[in-house]
Amino acid sequence: MTQLDSQTHGQLMDAVYCKQRHIYDLTRKYYLLGRDHLIEHLDITDDAVVLEVACGTGRNLISIAQRYPQARLYGIDISSEMLVSARSAIAKNGLSHRIQLAQGDACNLSLKQLFDISAADRVVLSYSLSMIPDWEEALRQAIKVLSRDGQLHVVDFGNQDKLPGIFRSILHSWLARFHVAPRLDLQQQMTGLAQKSDRQLSFQSLYRDYARYGMIA
Ligand SMILES: C[S@@+](CC[C@H](N)C(=O)[O-])C[C@H]1O[C@@H](n2cnc3c(N)ncnc32)[C@H](O)[C@@H]1O
Repeated sequence: MTQLDSQTHGQLMDAVYCKQRHIYDLTRKYYLLGRDHLIEHLDITDDAVVLEVACGTGRNLISIAQRYPQARLYGIDISSEMLVSARSAIAKNGLSHRIQLAQGDACNLSLKQLFDISAADRVVLSYSLSMIPDWEEALRQAIKVLSRDGQLHVVDFGNQDKLPGIFRSILHSWLARFHVAPRLDLQQQMTGLAQKSDRQLSFQSLYRDYARYGMIA
């Protein structure tokens, strides 16, 4: 995204979340499924550097910090509104010393500039690609910042075509209100990226394809 696009998209995200952020964690736990599955599969054994791109309210970062006490955590989000909630939740959980946040665009990642670090051992993209217009670029950027043995973990909406039609159409109109578009060719994109970067992809459909989880290592 260009600088101007990035600013406009950030303003859109602020508009979407300025009120929603107050009820985000409470409501999203019922339909952003698969986030805990991703966290369980991060497989962190030491003081790994974990970056969540588009971290929202910090819900995942807090859970990762609690589950993996040695990990060093970083989060970026384009929405300054979401970052207000994230900072406050992280402080409430006594984790401000372990989790650093910065405002940034997933499509233009510079870890050096944002956090003065050179790479991340785990990069997480959780229900964010479906809100990022140039989501293919966000995936490329995520691979770019991975350390040599690093892993990229992605969870997002699937096609939901095995679920009842009425449920699916209500969900899709609800998602459209929030500028969310499921990325149905996620697996193809991740396959291409894994090949280009000489890494391996594992990919799973979860909960009757409500959600999809991909990992590049
Ligand atoms: C549905 S929320 C997901 C938040 C969190 N990852 C989770 O799993 O709960 C999507 C987040 O993506 C952020 N976002 C959208 N486009 C972005 C971009 N280009 N760069 C960084 N963050 C972005 C939004 O501001 C929002 O916080």
